[in-house]
Amino acid sequence: MKKLSNFVSSIAESATLASAKRAKDLTAAGRDIIDLTLGQPDFVTPEPIDAAAIASIKTGKASFYTQAGGLPELKKAAAAYWERFYGYEPKASEILVTSGAKFALYAYFLSVLDPGDEVIIPAPYWVSYFDQVKMAEGIPVTVETRLEDHFKITVEQLQEVKSDKTKVLLINSPSNPTGMVYSKEELLAIGQWAIDNDVLILSDDIYHRLVYGKSEFVAISSLSDELRARTMVINGVSKTFSMTGWRIGLAVGDAEIISAMTKIASQTTSNPTAVSQYASIEAFSDSTDSYVETMRSEFEKRLETIMPALENVPGFEVVKPDGAFYLFPKVAEAMRMTGYDSIDDFSSAILEEAGVAIVSGTGFGSGDHIRMSYATDLDSLMTGVKRLKEWIEKRSI
Ligand SMILES: Cc1ncc(COP(=O)(O)O)c(C=O)c1O
Repeated sequence: MKKLSNFVSSIAESATLASAKRAKDLTAAGRDIIDLTLGQPDFVTPEPIDAAAIASIKTGKASFYTQAGGLPELKKAAAAYWERFYGYEPKASEILVTSGAKFALYAYFLSVLDPGDEVIIPAPYWVSYFDQVKMAEGIPVTVETRLEDHFKITVEQLQEVKSDKTKVLLINSPSNPTGMVYSKEELLAIGQWAIDNDVLILSDDIYHRLVYGKSEFVAISSLSDELRARTMVINGVSKTFSMTGWRIGLAVGDAEIISAMTKIASQTTSNPTAVSQYASIEAFSDSTDSYVETMRSEFEKRLETIMPALENVPGFEVVKPDGAFYLFPKVAEAMRMTGYDSIDDFSSAILEEAGVAIVSGTGFGSGDHIRMSYATDLDSLMTGVKRLKEWIEKRSI
């Protein structure tokens, strides 16, 4: 008997989680591995958030189911947060609290896609978009962006891939894996294209407070009422408040779609974990501002320190990211120098021989890039880059 469904056989495991697991296995086996695969801040959750969670347990509030779509108090806190960072206040019916942003994305695809509907995904993309669209019976249509263009898509490219099946355009700014951040002008042009072509926008803003230097986060949903109406915003507490383990995401957008997504949540996850919801009420308050800024500025410091070192690695080409906490160097030349033509083999060799765990570009839709996270301490980062440099110099043929 064939045990597994065709459906699950067509889905890939998350590439980042698989790479992180391989690094952990090797470390557990006694190898000295510098792990740069991590997609999460390396800080503990800010203290006021912990305190709110503990209080909700102590008072018994966290013991019970909540509304499937999230606690009304949390929706209220999220609406106030939105007013602060997006400049508009959504109604409770326009907000869904989910078990992580990842599930919010999936519930969205399930809610808007009919079989064969197309979702335009700029590549390189975050690993889960592609498979989630397939899991919802949609068709992921990727648009290649280039390092030379700072990984930005253009309206001309969108026009080229548009078909009568195009339903959704996905935007992720700041981006995982490239760190690219769109400007207001760029988003206005992309948004106008979506309006003109009657395409929905899915805006994954999960890194919205992690921007560096002069760059600024601009929300496409804040640019006009028309854009707000067709945009579903995905956000959450994972990256901003160092709460990846708490699993709270948000979807904010059209009430009819939110209601459909809530129905899906009610039949699958039920409510997100109650204690995490109480913690998130505190996270969205301004009591956490100074903690968020401390983490952001630490990431920025690391970026400033690591960039020159990375630029010195032979065969690595890198543009300085404006946000998130990833570097996405093009390593085509380094692969050539070391005799590799597969990015997966090149990445495995770096792990096995140099003792540095990075994520191969394959899962992000790229055959000649690797992703390195700088959500780790500076010493480890510098050692990791030094090892990479020495390994390439030694292996060059
Ligand atoms: C771009 C992007 N969107 C969504 C998520 C999912 O976040 P969550 O931890 O809330 O599920 C991640 C996590 O890595 C991400 O990088």
